[in-house]
Amino acid sequence: MDLSIVGSGVIGQATGFGFSKFGHNLVFYDINEKTLATLKDSGHNISQSLLGAVQNSDVIFVCVPTPTVDGLMDFGIMQDAIVGIGEALREVDGYRVVVVRSTVLPSTTRCKVVPLLERYSKLTAGDDFGVCMNPEFLREKTAFEDFLNPDRVVIGEFDKRSGDLLEKVYSSFDAPVIRTSLDSAEMIKYASNLFLATKISFFNEMYIFCQKLGVDSELLGKAVSLDPRIGEYGVYGGRPFDGKCLPKDLEAFSSFVKTLDVNPKLLDAVSHVNTEVDSFNKKVRK
Ligand SMILES: NC(=O)c1ccc[n+]([C@@H]2O[C@H](COP(=O)([O-])OP(=O)(O)OC[C@H]3O[C@@H](n4cnc5c(N)ncnc54)[C@H](O)[C@@H]3O)[C@@H](O)[C@H]2O)c1
Repeated sequence: MDLSIVGSGVIGQATGFGFSKFGHNLVFYDINEKTLATLKDSGHNISQSLLGAVQNSDVIFVCVPTPTVDGLMDFGIMQDAIVGIGEALREVDGYRVVVVRSTVLPSTTRCKVVPLLERYSKLTAGDDFGVCMNPEFLREKTAFEDFLNPDRVVIGEFDKRSGDLLEKVYSSFDAPVIRTSLDSAEMIKYASNLFLATKISFFNEMYIFCQKLGVDSELLGKAVSLDPRIGEYGVYGGRPFDGKCLPKDLEAFSSFVKTLDVNPKLLDAVSHVNTEVDSFNKKVRK
């Protein structure tokens, strides 16, 4: 199939390179010209315009950043990309599916992405174009390998037709496919990241106890991880979580549920322990 990537960073490239490997035709688009030039020099198809990318694809994967700014998910970058895709859809004939790959808070695709696409394309979702929310679970350091070997493929769909087309794109993958609603796909992604953050904070708290008791926390991590229900990820304490996703997603989600009048007690503790272990390390090193 003909696929395009809008936002050719970590997720965009892993998605694009991965689907190319499975025989799909890919075109990459990005607002960063250097990124496009590098992709072109390494033999990949690029489009200098968003219209060109949309025109030459059946499925458009949106992989732009969704940073957390002042504790809240910033939708601005995604909004620019979606408005541009909406305008491009207006110029082309034929049914296409727009797929949100970026991490977005529950209800974002249904309440913001779909209305923007309809407004700027002057088309109707479901009739004229499709929409899916297809979160990615890969780790940045092993992005390409993780993309090729997913534990599961989650397809949140606006309607059955959108989901059917996206499932076809994944037909060569050997992974269970979970078809669900747009909101549910968004929530699944957050639940995964929030659990990983919680696990790391749990073992960081164990690490602080171990330091006080004179117990070897690395050995504890190894021994505990041998239980297959627990596993090895995040069990070696003394390392606060950082990186591009866990801190930003934890902060944005906690603020989000507070707007729903829910007190995220556990998530607040996870964040607190993460800061605490950092200060603990600094004190120990002094
Ligand atoms: N990095 C990860 O490990 C990871 C894992 C899972 C999910 N995610 C999520 O995926 C999304 C993308 O993350 P990333 O790490 O790939 O970001 P990234 O910064 O590596 O790449 C984003 C790309 O989008 C481009 N861009 C920005 N605005 C654009 C626009 N209007 N049109 C076209 N391109 C535009 C940027 O130039 C950049 O190249 C985020 O929502 C993130 O939370 C990331």
